[in-house]
Amino acid sequence: MKPPVRVAITGAAGQIGYNLLFRIAAGDMLGNDQPIILHLLDIAAAQHILNGVVMELHDCAFPLLMDIVTTDDPLIAFTDIDIAILVGARPRAKGMERKDLLSANAEIFSIQGKALNQAANRNVKVLVVGNPANTNAYITLKNAPDLPIKCFSAMLRLDHNRALSQIALKLGQPVSKIKKMIIWGNHSSTQFPDLSHAEIDGKKILSLIEDQSWVEAYFIPTVQNRGTAIIEARGSSSAASAANAIINHIQDWCFDTKKDDWVTMGIPSDGSYDIPEGVIYGFPATCQAGTYHIVQGLEINNIAKLKMFATYQELLEEKNAIKHLLPRQ
Ligand code: NAD
Ligand code: LMR
Repeated sequence: MKPPVRVAITGAAGQIGYNLLFRIAAGDMLGNDQPIILHLLDIAAAQHILNGVVMELHDCAFPLLMDIVTTDDPLIAFTDIDIAILVGARPRAKGMERKDLLSANAEIFSIQGKALNQAANRNVKVLVVGNPANTNAYITLKNAPDLPIKCFSAMLRLDHNRALSQIALKLGQPVSKIKKMIIWGNHSSTQFPDLSHAEIDGKKILSLIEDQSWVEAYFIPTVQNRGTAIIEARGSSSAASAANAIINHIQDWCFDTKKDDWVTMGIPSDGSYDIPEGVIYGFPATCQAGTYHIVQGLEINNIAKLKMFATYQELLEEKNAIKHLLPRQ
C-alpha cells in the first residue's frame, strides 16, 4: 500500500467543500490506489457544520480515507501536507465585483501563506480557489518565502472547462476532441478566452466556425461572465463545477498533462508573452513530473496582445490595492 497523501482543504464546510471532499476521498483526484488523509480547515463558527460533513465522510466508509483532521487553526491544518486547496473565502454575492473582496480576503491568505511557509512539506502543491483567486494566490506566495514559487497556482481550470464545453456544443463534437484552449489572465470578467490556437482533429477551430461574429458576440462574453450567470441563476456561486475543476487541475499537476494538449493554470508570470513578473496569470501550461511549465512560442496577434494586456492591467490594479498588506521584502 502507498503511503498516504495529506490533502488540506480550507473552507471545507462550504458548498465547494461539500462537492469536493467526497470525490477526493473516493479516489477521483489521486487515483483509486492512493490512501488519503484529509486536513479540513474552517473558521470556529463553522466547526459544527464541518462535524456533520465528517460524519458523512465516515458514513461513506471510503477504503482510501485513512484519517481526517478538523481544525480552525491553519498551522494544524497545514502541518506536513502535500497538497493545499485554498477554497475558504467570502464568496461574491449578487452585484459584487471580485475586487470588492480583495481586502477581506487578503488577511485570510496572508495568515494561510505564513502557516504554509511554516508547516507544509517543502514540495507542497498549493491551489488557490477562493476569489479573487489570482491575487489571493499572489498574497499566499508572498507570505511563504521559504517555499519555491512553483508550489503555487490559482484556478482558471473552470474557465478552461467552460470554454471547452461551449465549443463542443457549438460544433456538436465531444469535449475530449477539443485541444489547446487558453484562458489568459485573471479569473474574472477581464479574462481572455482565446480560441486562436484551439484545435479539433488537428484543424484550427476558428476555421470551422462559419459565423465568425459568434466568437466575439457569444463565446468570449459567455465564458467571461459564466460565474456571474451561475450566481444569478442559483443564488450562489458555482460549486460542483468548481470542485470538478479543482480535481482536474490537481490531477494534471500531479500526473502530467496529455501529450498533445495543454491546460490553463494561474501561475506566476516569468515574463513569457510580455506579461511582467509579479502577478499570477492564466497561461497555457503543461505539467511533467509534478512541475508546471508555460507553453512557449505561440504566435500572438495584436488584438490578442491588447486583450492579454487588459486582463494583466486588472491584476496589477488588484495587486496595487493590497500591496500595503504584503510583507516587506
Ligand atoms: P461558501 O461560502 O459556501 O464556503 C466558504 C467556506 O469558507 C465557509 O465554510 C467559510 O466558513 C469558510 N471560510 C471563511 N473564511 C475562512 C478562513 N479564514 N479559513 C478557513 N475557512 C474559511 O463558499 P464556496 O461556494 O465554497 O466558495 C468558496 C470560494 O471559492 C469563494 O471565494 C468563491 O468565490 C470561490 N470560487 C472560485 C472559483 C474559481 O474558479 N476560482 C469557482 C467558484 C467559486
Ligand atoms: C465562478 O467562476 O463560478 C466563480 O468564481 C464566481 C464567483 O465569483 O464566486
